[in-house]
Amino acid sequence: MSTYVTTPIYYVNALPHLGHAYTTIVTDTYSRFRKLCGDDVRFQTGTDEHGEKIVEAAVKEGVSPREYVDRISTAFQGTWPSLSVEPDYLIRTTDADHMQTVQDILQMVYDKGDIYFSEYSGLYCKGCERFLTEKELVDGKCPDHQVAPEEISEQNYFFRMSKYQDWLINHIKENPEFITPERYRNEVLSFLSEPLEDLCISRPTSRLTWGIPLPFDENFVTYVWFDALINYLTGLGYPNGELYAKYWQDAEHVIAKDILKPHAIYWPTMLRSMDVPAYKRLHVHGYWNVDETKMSKSIGNVVRPKDLVEAYGVDTLRYFVLREMSFGLDSSFSADSIIARQNSDLANDLGNLFSRSLTMIDKYAGQKVPQIEQSLEEEAEQELQQAIQDMLVAYEKHMNSFNFHKGLQSVWEVISLLNKYIVTNAPWDLAKDDSQQGRLNVVLYTLLEALRVLAIVLKPVMPSAADKMAAALSLENFDQATLTDCTWGGMTAGQALAAPEPLFPRLEKKKKEQKQQAQSKAKKKPATKAEQLDGVITFEQFGQVELRVATVIAAESIPKADKLLKLTVEAPEKRTIVAGIAEYYAPEDLPGRQVIIVANLKPAKLRGVVSEGMVLAAKQKLEDGTEQLTLATVAEKMAPGSRVA
Ligand code: MSP
Repeated sequence: MSTYVTTPIYYVNALPHLGHAYTTIVTDTYSRFRKLCGDDVRFQTGTDEHGEKIVEAAVKEGVSPREYVDRISTAFQGTWPSLSVEPDYLIRTTDADHMQTVQDILQMVYDKGDIYFSEYSGLYCKGCERFLTEKELVDGKCPDHQVAPEEISEQNYFFRMSKYQDWLINHIKENPEFITPERYRNEVLSFLSEPLEDLCISRPTSRLTWGIPLPFDENFVTYVWFDALINYLTGLGYPNGELYAKYWQDAEHVIAKDILKPHAIYWPTMLRSMDVPAYKRLHVHGYWNVDETKMSKSIGNVVRPKDLVEAYGVDTLRYFVLREMSFGLDSSFSADSIIARQNSDLANDLGNLFSRSLTMIDKYAGQKVPQIEQSLEEEAEQELQQAIQDMLVAYEKHMNSFNFHKGLQSVWEVISLLNKYIVTNAPWDLAKDDSQQGRLNVVLYTLLEALRVLAIVLKPVMPSAADKMAAALSLENFDQATLTDCTWGGMTAGQALAAPEPLFPRLEKKKKEQKQQAQSKAKKKPATKAEQLDGVITFEQFGQVELRVATVIAAESIPKADKLLKLTVEAPEKRTIVAGIAEYYAPEDLPGRQVIIVANLKPAKLRGVVSEGMVLAAKQKLEDGTEQLTLATVAEKMAPGSRVA
């Protein structure tokens, strides 16, 4: 199978921002995912370099349009490697072969009678570079650019788009996947329920010269959309190129909702007129806002991809945007939300799983893949293997339908199961007992296999982290890996493993903040005698607090709460307690320990988990300003539930 996937070609009137980065990361991820499915893939992105907006931007900078477009398109091209985006082809609409093909197509459509000359007056929005209908305006303004469109009247060339309206409606109805998610398909069908107007495809050279001249009238240049959309064909060497023959039938375009109409209406009707089959799928996503506000230069909240990579790393950025946005809906970016994802999903869940597992392999199996006896596999291993099978099915389905957040959710469910598997099977205990060596090997092998599968499925999303995982697991030919390699049992017994590199450090920024908090707390003056007396309580008051010894039977992290752990304790009845100790204790360190709990606190819900009590701990400040925390316990082992008085 082959796949041809494209991003929009970006206008070079501004530098790349988070929105451009998102579409391009999504397209790159999909391209890598289809490769993982064994497809022959071509991924194209590029820049849209003609039109009024570009000329305006160049004039503002005091340079020629040519100089200006060269500069900004270089900035776009330079951004992609820093985002681990690897397109197969970068197209520019100022490329000579593109300009020639646009002219050939115009001539062909003109000769066919689908282009005619006429007078037109209408409401033109410069931001959209197209005429808007009255219906599209909100309070008389373009809803995307917040400016009233100009009334323009001039003679121009028109494409007979209306001729293809019925065909298009049928095509959309017969092909449910043609435009997804469904809300955008419905939006297009609703727009098409009204008569379609023909499309103005030219600008007089008296008004604009920075464009592709019409081959049949030198007094006009091509209107940007007719020029821009054709990039998807010229990048394949249409009409005679081998690439065109190979890939066009599998074309998929990725765009945001702002350019739905040109892609869902102009483009398929243009293709129809040219006798070229329509593209296969159009994937439409929502908009990124920043701190719940529309990104805009005037507000000064434009987020640049390079700054994000510097602050958080490329894998975290890719994971964050794919996990955070439900494809099709708008989403909001904030530093807090990316830090939370990094610390909880990446450093805590995935990073800890990886480092704990490999540390144990090193400690208990001499950094080699252990030999296992399959007869020693228990229900726990069967369940895990089944969960991984189920995850693979869900992952493939969701990634293929651009539901990246759901695909990742299903992967993280397995990560969470694996972290639990470590706690319940306690390899550190098995290691203490020689007769358990066989079981220990099974547990360690299971972890290695699961990590191998994780490295493969994470490859499209976080290529560098997946490479690090593969290197630590000594996986050969990882760059060629496909989903078929996820079959259980790929690790070879006796294979030496490499020393792992840390995958995701907890974010420095967070540490700094904690340090500052600790320092500002340390600066507080000690309480005076009177203040201390203010806090005095009576025997009766103290007697109201019921302290008990409890034994921890399980501990796990809580998604999106990087400070909290969920403990299950016996006191002697089973209780759940949420404790703010995740920065000081790993979940696997806790089972078996005895702690002191406040047993008669009113239950409280923390991050969706009901906490039935509180765990006591002592805290001290270290010289570097950070804090150390240790759990309060009893000097000798006591029956769970014993009162502390
Ligand atoms: N040049 C046209 C596209 C021609 S395609 C044949 C154009 N260029 S653009 O530079 O304005 O890019 C628009 C695209 O950038 C959107 O469709 C989307 O892919 C991306 N984004 C720009 N801002 C965005 C957000 N705030 N959020 C998400 N993506 C957005 O239109």
